[in-house]
Amino acid sequence: MKVHKIAVIPGDGIGPEVIDEGVKVLQRIAELDGSFTFEFDYFPWGCEYYAKNGKMMDDNGLDILKNYDAIYLGAVGFPGVPDHISLWDLLLKIRKGFDQYVNLRPIKLLNGIPNALSNVPRENIDMLFIRENTEGEYAGAGDWLNKGREDEIALQTGVFTRKGVERIIRYAFEEARKQGKSLTSISKGNAMQYSMVFWDQIFEEVANEYPDVKIDSYLVDAASMLLIKDPKRFEIVVTTNLFGDILTDLGAALAGGLGLAAGANVNPEKTFPSMFEPIHGSAPDIAGQGIANPMATVWSASQILDFFGYEQWGNQVIQAIEKTLVDKKVLTPDLEGSSTTADVGDEIINNLVKIKVESN
Ligand code: NAD
Ligand code: IPM
Ligand code: MN
Repeated sequence: MKVHKIAVIPGDGIGPEVIDEGVKVLQRIAELDGSFTFEFDYFPWGCEYYAKNGKMMDDNGLDILKNYDAIYLGAVGFPGVPDHISLWDLLLKIRKGFDQYVNLRPIKLLNGIPNALSNVPRENIDMLFIRENTEGEYAGAGDWLNKGREDEIALQTGVFTRKGVERIIRYAFEEARKQGKSLTSISKGNAMQYSMVFWDQIFEEVANEYPDVKIDSYLVDAASMLLIKDPKRFEIVVTTNLFGDILTDLGAALAGGLGLAAGANVNPEKTFPSMFEPIHGSAPDIAGQGIANPMATVWSASQILDFFGYEQWGNQVIQAIEKTLVDKKVLTPDLEGSSTTADVGDEIINNLVKIKVESN
């Protein structure tokens, strides 16, 4: 029996609430399948841990996590701990420490979710964002000089390396080729005369190796408009760390909100474990009420299944989410329902079992 070891970091706010449902779904799938199991180990790292220990994770946290096949994370950050400390000491530390340079963020409007764009057919909202995940404005490079003085200055340096830009663009071309889809690069070469001109140049260089892949390139401001006006243009998208962060929240709004947006932080070489999470945060405004939507976290469970090579299960999880949405009986308040987080998790599992029975 194949055993997959998963490190679970529920984290802060709604993190533990939604991660419970994702774990439940994965456990049920292992039972239904019978040929593999998951072994879950929990780590209590987050803002409460910080309050007690003065740090977000153990000093040897990355060494501990290194032994796992995947990391499943809820959310990090909560009022009381400055965000830049909580995030840099846990989430960003893992992304960078494990060289998870590919961030896969699907944006797909499932049936059952109202289409926010009345001018656009719903099937046109179906894209995969591939966000560079370790450098750019997230390189951690900068300085804060002359603090408190009139000539105070803060520098946040965007760092773009040939290795970093080339590998993410190449990954995106491979994915576009594999899926037979177009690839769109989003950058900002008109204002950023170093980093984004460099990015655009590498995009063109790598494109020469993939004459079979249809390409497009947009400035990030125009792309933001086109994502709303004409989302059909976007199939596979490759973009920088910061632009990818912002645009995927915009994308989430097209696909039903943050409660439905998942992300995989992948180290393709498998030198280190990859990490799977919803892209939303700890949602302090609704934390502790049991009403957070777990669908994004369950969607990221489907990314775990794909990652381990169980694509059929990955697809069936999405189908089970979609059936839950179409039935409209069990939904959380963000989707105009009145059910709890746990009810939605249970309903997804019920639907998964039905889909499994039908597919046999
Ligand atoms: P957020 O994503 O936590 O919440 C934004 C809005 O979306 C809130 O109104 C929230 O209620 C709603 N929302 C988010 N997830 C939801 C869900 N599953 N179901 C229903 N509604 C949901 O963003 P924020 O408020 O800007 O940030 C809160 C904290 O989370 C901050 O500390 C921030 O730094 C952190 N954060 C962490 C991550 C992460 O861990 N990956 C991502 C984003 C923000
Ligand atoms: C995300 C989040 C993180 C990011 C924050 C919490 C550091 O917004 O995963 O989208 O900016 O990458
Ligand atoms: Mn974000």
